[in-house]
Amino acid sequence: MTFKRTLLASVFAFAPAAVFAADLTIGFSQIGSESGWRAAETTVTKQEAEKRGIDLKFADAQQKQENQIKAIRSFIAQGVDAILIAPVVATGWDEVLEEAADAEIPVVLLDRTVDADKSLYLTAVTSDLVHEGKVAGEWLASEMNGADCRIVELQGTTGSSPAIDRKAGFEQGIAGHDNLQIVRSQTGDFTRAQGKVVMESFLKAEGAGNICALYAHNDDMAVGAIQAIKEAGLKPGEDIKIVAIDAVPDAHKAIADGEMNATIELTPNMAGPALDALEKFLADGTAPEKWIQTESKLFTSADDNLAIFNEKKDLGY
Ligand code: AHR
Repeated sequence: MTFKRTLLASVFAFAPAAVFAADLTIGFSQIGSESGWRAAETTVTKQEAEKRGIDLKFADAQQKQENQIKAIRSFIAQGVDAILIAPVVATGWDEVLEEAADAEIPVVLLDRTVDADKSLYLTAVTSDLVHEGKVAGEWLASEMNGADCRIVELQGTTGSSPAIDRKAGFEQGIAGHDNLQIVRSQTGDFTRAQGKVVMESFLKAEGAGNICALYAHNDDMAVGAIQAIKEAGLKPGEDIKIVAIDAVPDAHKAIADGEMNATIELTPNMAGPALDALEKFLADGTAPEKWIQTESKLFTSADDNLAIFNEKKDLGY
């Protein structure tokens, strides 16, 4: 193991025989389908593989790390050329990543990071998750312009890198603004249904008029929360400002309708850069950077959200 891992780490004494995309078999361990964004990532990944003639073996883990580990072991046993993993949580990957390294199968992480030695994977294609949270916090600080604001936060899946980093980033973004206070923070597991349930509990606990803003770690939870806010007799986007992350079509629609205020875009196309990097690496050993960073863009009511909704709505979200 040590020899092979060192091989991967030194990126890479490994000199693969030239492999062409059309000959590649790649395993993809996807988290599940908790959000519209996740559905789009799955669609785009399958399209990117098909476009390149890659045989993509897809495994849906139904939100469970144990299912991801099983899928990865099965990919290793099948002798795939490479493995894509969207890791549901950040910890607990070392052993299975070592097994992939032992088998000399390069691994690329998609959209989330892991707490494992960097030598255990080829590269990670992700946004700057802390930055996304920071942009959300800074947007709210500027929007409130010194006025007092009691904020509730809907966190993503507990233990996942976006939940950890988007929380930290938001706290950085509002740091030094004593008028802004996070009064409640709980996981909504990145789903619409839980976003609604947890927002209902926030409204009940705080009293409907005592929440000034919602920060949700993804748009799906924000869309669920919008429903809860309406059912409580309040106007989302006005009585409660809402900022979230992903820029899914429904968020653009909600902003166009005045029911949400801002979202930060996360591209669902992680597979394009990942497969580009893998194809180069497998063809001639060219090692990519350890982090391939995707762009993050803030959208507010100043943008033409209806037009963006129409552009995005058929893209697999
Ligand atoms: O890891 C990316 C996050 O996972 C997206 O923001 C969220 O919608 C998804 O479930």
